[in-house]
Amino acid sequence: MCGIMGYVGKRNALPIVIDGLKKLEYRGYDSAGVALLAENGIFLAKKAGRVAELEQHVQGSAFAKASADKSVSDIPKGNLAIAHTRWATHGKPTDINAHPHSDCKKEIFIVHNGIIENHQELKEALQREGHIFSSETDSEVIAHLIERQLIMENKISLEDAVTEALGHVTGTFGVAVISKKDGQKIVAARRGSPLILGVGDGEYVLASDASAIVGVTKQAVYLHDNELVSVSPDGFHIFNLSKKPLEKNIQTIEWDTESAQKGGFSHFMKKEIFEQPETLKNSLRGRLMEDGFAKLGGLEDVKERFLSSKQISIIACGTSYYAGMLGKYFFEEIAGIPVSVERASEFRYRNPVMGPDYTAIFISQSGETADTIHALREAKKRGALTLGIVNVVGSTLARESDAGVYNHAGPEIGVASTKAFLSQIGVLMLIALFLKKKNGASSTNGLDMVHEFKALPSKMEKILKRDSEIKSLAQKYLSYSNFAFIGRKYQFPVALEGALKLKEIAYRYAEGYAAGELKHGPLALIDGNMPVIALAVKDSIYEKVISNIEEVKARGGKVIAIASESDKRIGAIADDVIFIPESLEMLSPMLSVIPLQLFAYHTAALLGLDVDKPRNLAKSVTVE
Ligand code: M6R
Repeated sequence: MCGIMGYVGKRNALPIVIDGLKKLEYRGYDSAGVALLAENGIFLAKKAGRVAELEQHVQGSAFAKASADKSVSDIPKGNLAIAHTRWATHGKPTDINAHPHSDCKKEIFIVHNGIIENHQELKEALQREGHIFSSETDSEVIAHLIERQLIMENKISLEDAVTEALGHVTGTFGVAVISKKDGQKIVAARRGSPLILGVGDGEYVLASDASAIVGVTKQAVYLHDNELVSVSPDGFHIFNLSKKPLEKNIQTIEWDTESAQKGGFSHFMKKEIFEQPETLKNSLRGRLMEDGFAKLGGLEDVKERFLSSKQISIIACGTSYYAGMLGKYFFEEIAGIPVSVERASEFRYRNPVMGPDYTAIFISQSGETADTIHALREAKKRGALTLGIVNVVGSTLARESDAGVYNHAGPEIGVASTKAFLSQIGVLMLIALFLKKKNGASSTNGLDMVHEFKALPSKMEKILKRDSEIKSLAQKYLSYSNFAFIGRKYQFPVALEGALKLKEIAYRYAEGYAAGELKHGPLALIDGNMPVIALAVKDSIYEKVISNIEEVKARGGKVIAIASESDKRIGAIADDVIFIPESLEMLSPMLSVIPLQLFAYHTAALLGLDVDKPRNLAKSVTVE
């Protein structure tokens, strides 16, 4: 996830903003950059790679310049700077695409977090007016919009120019702007991307999270959406984006750097579980249309071929594979195209039937999973159209597939995948709605889908509020070492995912089953020592699942049910129940998986295990 850092005050800004960027490194990024208002103009440095490389580059270019000029005074110094770590969403992770970005005359410099949904149309309009763009990013339009505003209205202030420019933008932003002509101030604003102003003694820092601020000051003002701050060595002024001045309280940040990086949560995994309402919004933003179809820019070039595929294969590993299972259900239900789902590690070593009239979709959070990459190369050899659903922009899988869709989940740091899974489900549903155009016969009402997608984030928040209840359940079942997870239809992949979470971070033996399969063997395992977590939401197969739960109870099994809030029967059947809001059947996995993530999390945390880095596992499995 991108990070913003800014400084204005009495000290040399460069080491302070670079140190701030280092504190933001944990968020994940692929390039970094800085713009410093130096004595002799703007000093700009941008580098793909780590902050340490940017630092070396800054020192190197300064020393090179200094030795050429035979003067060390050229080492950049100045009291005002903005800096950025970029996590690519639009355009590859390159030096040029790194922030800050500037206008045509290189007088205005901006750093931006978030996504400008209407960047394409804004860019085309600005190009028609003669603006020249240097990068592939959506962010650069902001610099040109501000430039246009300053050209159009001669005496306008930088604050007003930024406000007017942001008025043209659809999407999300945390943005910080400096201008050569208005050299004493940083103007920053937010909508949907966090921004905090640190208030020191005659100096101010701006950052996207508290971890980059606490090294300078613990006094902070939290900006809210649609607020703008103008900050100079003399103080700061806050306005809303309708230019009305606002009074804001200065608060004390209680966290140290490490807890600030985790947003106050004890582990990254928990932070990422709690980020999921926002993750879903980010994955859908600008893609889900009000008419119930989906607009996916990354698939436009291959649309014809994709829509005419005879068969789709979804290929992935681990959690991504379970998301793929849901994709099969979505595509067959909504688009009526036959779909097979396969584990990449199996696909790559057999002799699959696949040809040019096939589409192979590869799902990977990291985009670097060796098995998935090799499977992609196999599918390419056979002439299939290859698509990627990838979270990390510019990763191997993203580069090697013919086309694809990014998750926009932001970096996932905990080894256990949580928010990436949720975003994969969201993207798969978008692709199903994209395919739906082909087949008008689907009974799925796209408008209901749009309505429910909008309602899901607040339903997720409701489940997250049950965190302490789920922790108590984890405590109650802490001494059990074997668990079964059961579900049917859309809840079957969720059962598999719930079991995987418990295995990988709590080291409990946990197996996921299709509930209807119990009687074909696993029922023999059931007794009072093997709790069964049953996904029993009110859907088209609810009664069947209840029968499966009764089968477990009849054998002395203990049942924890994940059930719909309106379910009045379940309390009498199950030993424990976690209630969740109701949803459309197809979208309910996005809700029912959350209690399972929290159950696994609390079990591992209560056992004192290393939740974010479980033994024997790696976040990105780049070996076979
Ligand atoms: O990066 P990928 O999505 O390709 O990773 C695939 C699996 O290694 C991954 O989902 C793994 O199963 C997770 N640790 C599960 O939480």
